[in-house]
Amino acid sequence: MKHSNYFSIKFENDSVTFLDQTKLPLEENYVQTDDYERIAIAIERLEVRGAPLIGISAAYALAVAMKEDSKNKKQTFNKAYQRLKMTRPTAVNLFAALSVMKEEFSKINDYDDAYNLLLNKAKEIHKKDEEYCSKIGRHGINIFKKKSTVLTHCNTGKLGTGGDGTAFSVIKHAFENDLVNFVYADETRPLLQGSRLTAYELEKSGIPFSLQTDSSAAFLMQQGKIDLVITGADRIALNGDTANKIGTYSLAVSSYHHNIPLYIAAPSTTIDRAIASGKEIEIEYRNSSELLSVHNIQIASSEYDVFTPAFDITPAHLIKGIITEEDIFNFPYNFLR
Ligand code: MRU
Repeated sequence: MKHSNYFSIKFENDSVTFLDQTKLPLEENYVQTDDYERIAIAIERLEVRGAPLIGISAAYALAVAMKEDSKNKKQTFNKAYQRLKMTRPTAVNLFAALSVMKEEFSKINDYDDAYNLLLNKAKEIHKKDEEYCSKIGRHGINIFKKKSTVLTHCNTGKLGTGGDGTAFSVIKHAFENDLVNFVYADETRPLLQGSRLTAYELEKSGIPFSLQTDSSAAFLMQQGKIDLVITGADRIALNGDTANKIGTYSLAVSSYHHNIPLYIAAPSTTIDRAIASGKEIEIEYRNSSELLSVHNIQIASSEYDVFTPAFDITPAHLIKGIITEEDIFNFPYNFLR
């Protein structure tokens, strides 16, 4: 399948344009809006998703909220802020971006300037993430001891960030430097971010890959086919415990058993410096329909009870290294430094 060039989010003509990721890879459908509520819904529905991109989207949403013809900008800001804060609970980048925007808003003297000032701040958050992605990619190549076969989970590319991605940026950069020969991408049940989104991005980047069910990973490792596992993160505690897409913990246990290094790649905005360990991370539970149907086709009875965590926590000791825009950190982690 060939696709035109793509982007995850863009600000132009006083509005936000985002790619509706729920339609990928079959349709490249861009949505243009200057309504913060529409952006909040997009975050909830995973039309925009991935920890850094959620933060960037929320920042733009607060900026466009200031375009509303309201006499009380402070009230409008607070309403939009509270709404966006409730969209998804696990990725800390959302709360980090909202805090930066709140601080910017608190410094405003003349509310007629609010839109432009918040927009500049949102663009700054977006630009910084783009730079962080490049740096993560550059640092990441230092983990490769030889030309390697990499296994990855969920989607960590341009579709989840403001730049080239987190784990995906490492893989892409390493591939361009002749350090990756093949990628195995987990399909990533239940919403298939691997088979719908990572495959799309691997194909666009010309990186040879194979898709597999999440449950095939341990078998691949047992066969000696995997040199490295690299994933992203949604929240990292001070001790290195990491929340990422459900299935990452199983991958970490399998990697550890097979003596295969597992790395996490994430910008520093994914580190939650307010929490000591992963025990304090709130895990999002999704609607049962996401498990009981695929693309609106019912695959199991809607009467069934289902268990639907969107994320899990990988304990720090199972993570060989955490690659950020600053450096590569190794266990034991202490992000207070
Ligand atoms: O539910 P999602 O698709 O927002 O989950 C995204 C992930 O878990 C990614 O691995 C994470 O955000 C890494 S960086 C894009």
